[in-house]
Order: sequence, then C-alpha cells, then structure tokens
Amino acid sequence: MRHKKINEVKTIFNKISSNYDFLNTLLSLGFHRFWKNKLVDLLKPIDGENWADLCCGTGDLSFLILKKVMPNGTVTGIDNAKEILNIARKRSKLNGNKFICWEMKDILEMDENLKIYDGICMSYGLRNLVNVEEGLKKIFNLLSDRGRAGFLDFNHSKFNSIADLFQKIYLRFVVVPISKIFKLSKEYSYIEKSIKNFPEGDKLKIIAKGVGFKKVEYRTIFFNQMGILILEK
Ligand SMILES: C[S@@+](CC[C@H](N)C(=O)[O-])C[C@H]1O[C@@H](n2cnc3c(N)ncnc32)[C@H](O)[C@@H]1O
Repeated sequence: MRHKKINEVKTIFNKISSNYDFLNTLLSLGFHRFWKNKLVDLLKPIDGENWADLCCGTGDLSFLILKKVMPNGTVTGIDNAKEILNIARKRSKLNGNKFICWEMKDILEMDENLKIYDGICMSYGLRNLVNVEEGLKKIFNLLSDRGRAGFLDFNHSKFNSIADLFQKIYLRFVVVPISKIFKLSKEYSYIEKSIKNFPEGDKLKIIAKGVGFKKVEYRTIFFNQMGILILEK
C-alpha cells in the first residue's frame, strides 16, 4: 500500500515534469514565485549555512536559497522522481551553476540521524508524502541543533469556508480543464484529493510539536489559499 502510493506520486511527477514549470507559472499567474520568496524571507538563510530543499522538483527553492547562503554555504536539492530532478540539473547547467548538489532520494528513506542541515525547506512536498508525521520526524532528525525548517503548501481550509469553496472551484474549473489541454487532467485532479488528506494548519502545528519542534508557526497567505509552516528545533 505504502509503496503503491509512493510509486503513484513518483509516476505523476515524472509524467508532468516537462510541463511542470510552465503550468506552475500559468496556473498561479506567476504568484508561486512570490510565495516561494516569502518562505525564503521568513527562513532567513545566511551565508555559510548548509540547507536542503526536500521534494525540490525543478529546484526553484534551491536556487533562491543558494543566493542567500553563498559563497560559503551549501544547498542540496533532493527528490525521488528522476525526470523532474533532471530538469533541475539542466537548469543548473544552463545557469552555469555548479554549487547545488542534486540527489535522487526518497525523503522517507533518508538516513535520519545525521543532524547535517542548518535549514530545510520544502514547497508543495509535505502534502505529497505518504505520512506527514513521519516526514516531519525525519526532518527533525536531519536538522542540526537549533536548525529550522519551512514548508509552503496549499492551505487545507475549513470545510465549506469561502477559501475552501474558492479553492475547489479554482481546481475543478481552472486547473483541471487547463491541464486537460496538456493531457494531464488525471494528474492535476490529484491536487484536490491530496489537499483533502493534508492536515489543516492547526493540526500540522500539533504534529510538529509532537515530533519535538520547540517553535511552531503557521500562517496563511493569498486569501487563505496557501499556508506556510515554520519550525525551529
Ligand atoms: C508539487 S512538486 C513540488 C516541486 C517544487 N518543490 C516546487 O515547489 O515547485 C512535489 C515534489 O515532491 C516530490 N516527492 C514526492 N514525494 C517524495 C518523496 N517521498 N521523496 C522525495 N521526493 C518526493 C515529487 O517528485 C515532486 O517533485
């Protein structure tokens, strides 16, 4: 069951990889860049720190973090889908950027007692893990003492709230029909299902506290459509 779900998610991202960046920008009207910048601003990475961008996809956050931790820090972008990670690698080559280390790994299978990162970031990844609590536990153990982590994802709003209705209308009547043009409607219909299974902000905070994070903050942005979770050990 677990491996079936992991493989399903991997298949989705491998399949959409070549259209991923274009559709992200189109479907968010470019706002995803603003939200990712907001996450990085809140995390405040600084020169000399070692960061990991988990579920890095095509590497947007890795590139943003690198600008902040250079010239003495490091960034590792990690994803388990080969095709999407290849796009991150190509983007690095095109930029002449040799400083990000790209690794193909499953987050839930990473060696968890390393305490190697000062910071970990993740955008639109936590919702895709088979088990959010397990993912946060891994991240807790991968972070050095006083390390911090930040997550950007869709906000799971209260059922039938205005934000919830708006999100459903947008996903069903904008995202799915547009992705259909690219023959990817099945893959993009998955977003609504994944939000439904994703804990609401307050629940995410409880899970993070339970895992051991001392500082736990959750805020919504963009009319409650997106959520940012900030954690500190
Ligand atoms: C929606 S994409 C987000 C990509 C990128 N972070 C962004 O914001 O554009 C989710 C990514 O998580 C990756 N992913 C999902 N489950 C994973 C896992 N268990 N281990 C590693 N990567 C995973 C997928 O392959 C995909 O690239």
